[in-house]
Amino acid sequence: MINVTKPFLPEMEEYIEYVKSIWERNWLTNNGPLVNDLELKLKDYLELDHLLFLGNGTIALQIAIKALKLKGEIITTPFSYVATTSSIVWEGCKPVFADIDPKTLCIDPAKIEERINKNTCAILGTHVYGNPCDVVAIEKIAAKHNLKVIYDAAHAFGVKYKGRSIFEYGDISTASFHSTKLFHTIEGGAVITKDHDLLRTMARMRNFGHNSPDTFEGVGINGKNSEFHAAMGLVNMKHIASIMKSRKDQALAYDKCLANLKVTRPVILKGAEWNYSYYPIIFESEEILLKSLYELNGNWIYPRRYFYPSLSSLNYVDKYEVPFSEDISKRVMCLPMYHTLKEEDIYFISRLLLRVQNN
Ligand SMILES: Cc1ncc(COP(=O)(O)O)c(C=O)c1O
Repeated sequence: MINVTKPFLPEMEEYIEYVKSIWERNWLTNNGPLVNDLELKLKDYLELDHLLFLGNGTIALQIAIKALKLKGEIITTPFSYVATTSSIVWEGCKPVFADIDPKTLCIDPAKIEERINKNTCAILGTHVYGNPCDVVAIEKIAAKHNLKVIYDAAHAFGVKYKGRSIFEYGDISTASFHSTKLFHTIEGGAVITKDHDLLRTMARMRNFGHNSPDTFEGVGINGKNSEFHAAMGLVNMKHIASIMKSRKDQALAYDKCLANLKVTRPVILKGAEWNYSYYPIIFESEEILLKSLYELNGNWIYPRRYFYPSLSSLNYVDKYEVPFSEDISKRVMCLPMYHTLKEEDIYFISRLLLRVQNN
């Protein structure tokens, strides 16, 4: 069976070494030494000023919204994972959808401007499949209208724009280190900011609002992550170069095998160094997508309709016109990609897709 993804697992012994050290210290969670070490190594690798390791990418979004004290309407993308929208609603704000650019699949800056009114407090864009939003245009709009910017960078580990980590953009960027992601800590996430005050606020928020063992400042939640999760991150960091290389090799192999398939692919923002974290293809119609899915599933291959459905169809949001998101979400599919996927698997998947097209 070939699934859309398979979590990277290092040799068990590498992980056990860290587990032994956790046993020796008897320090399992609450900002332990492995969590600190992982934060330092991630900041170093990604060349960031500040990063806080959290329980997951959803709590990262919730903490980001809370730390910026957002109230009112947040302009966001309907083409993302549900956590992007649900976090806005969870934090008592209103998601206002602006449609995507059909080429990049990221939120379209021109559509953002159309949605701004006196209740707008922020923009929340997703770097879809790791492809950066038009961060320069969004920064300009935010400065003009005095809006905060959050980027859901769940897919964007290792992505750079104009030589800098994409995590550096916006007031806050959030990451997911879920098992299905390029870099993972089993469950995990992070908030990244350049603002020292925001960092301190978010550090308190992730730890119930404590600013010392006996004192609290502001509302908090349990957003922490454990030593066991940090240990997985520390081991996986050692393999990140080979994980990233295998994704790129696989993407190039798909490109070659699928050259004659009538699908479109997202256009990567100029100036970006992409991480090849997913291999999305956009079919000419939902009908061909469904036929292709049926054929692949019949051969024990399970790609994913991702993102599907468009978040504009959620039953707890107001309706906005977002035709590109609604159309593309019906026609897009992510093909299998993970470190142990073999070249012959890619040939096989590609042959099946071409067979559906040519029959
Ligand atoms: C775009 C996007 N945002 C947020 C999340 C939520 O991250 P997590 O699963 O770590 O909570 C995901 C997870 O798949 C995602 O793809």
